[in-house]
Amino acid sequence: MSGSTRLDRLLANLGYGSRNEVQELARRGAVRLDGAPIKDASQRISVTPDLSARLTVSGELLDPMPGMAVMLHKPLGVTCSHKEAGPLVYDLFPPRWRRREPALSTVGRLDKETSGLLLLTDDGTLLHKIISPKHHVAKHYVATLARPLRGDEVALFAAGTLMLEGETKPLAPALMEVLSPLSARVRVTEGRYHQVRRMFAATGNHVEALHRERIGALALPADLEPGTYRLMTAADIAAIFA
Ligand code: URA
Repeated sequence: MSGSTRLDRLLANLGYGSRNEVQELARRGAVRLDGAPIKDASQRISVTPDLSARLTVSGELLDPMPGMAVMLHKPLGVTCSHKEAGPLVYDLFPPRWRRREPALSTVGRLDKETSGLLLLTDDGTLLHKIISPKHHVAKHYVATLARPLRGDEVALFAAGTLMLEGETKPLAPALMEVLSPLSARVRVTEGRYHQVRRMFAATGNHVEALHRERIGALALPADLEPGTYRLMTAADIAAIFA
């Protein structure tokens, strides 16, 4: 985002409240630029990348500007949805982020019982670039299995002919690396519904645990604990497509 915008519009779109509520905040001196209060929120403000470091609301630095991207270590038991019942990934972020416009959305989905690297962004172009099959962004998973591998899975997944139950188009070739008789690393470039679980189901197996460790060359940081997140840098985004 660049150019200039009314301060009340910017803050309302970042979820700080209605435009009236934001105007009231400003009147009370709670909105400050470089430490100086901006009392009239109808004032236009230059939207520059450093604004988040210069503008404070109630003493706290402004939330990330539109165009944000976040990496989350998705824990087990939370759903990638804006409205389903039960714990949602959006509950892991500041509540204000639920009111952002444009909205923050997950880049594809992980199942409720899948853990690992999950990206979220409010940038629709970026989102589509990551999930579009055209860009062949590889997603790397580690699957823990109920039964020992039977031995033909690597060839079967690589063939580009595997048909999932209920579908009419075969899966694109996927790479698999055996980690142990009961675990494997799988690299897929598509994002079909429950894809990895259904691939192993097609071999008569059952996935007991599934974890996404990498998207493109972007790995889940080792120090990012389950349930925590970090804003993405330009280098992180470049790594997705590297
Ligand atoms: N494949 C699955 O089966 N589940 C996920 O969450 C992601 C890929």
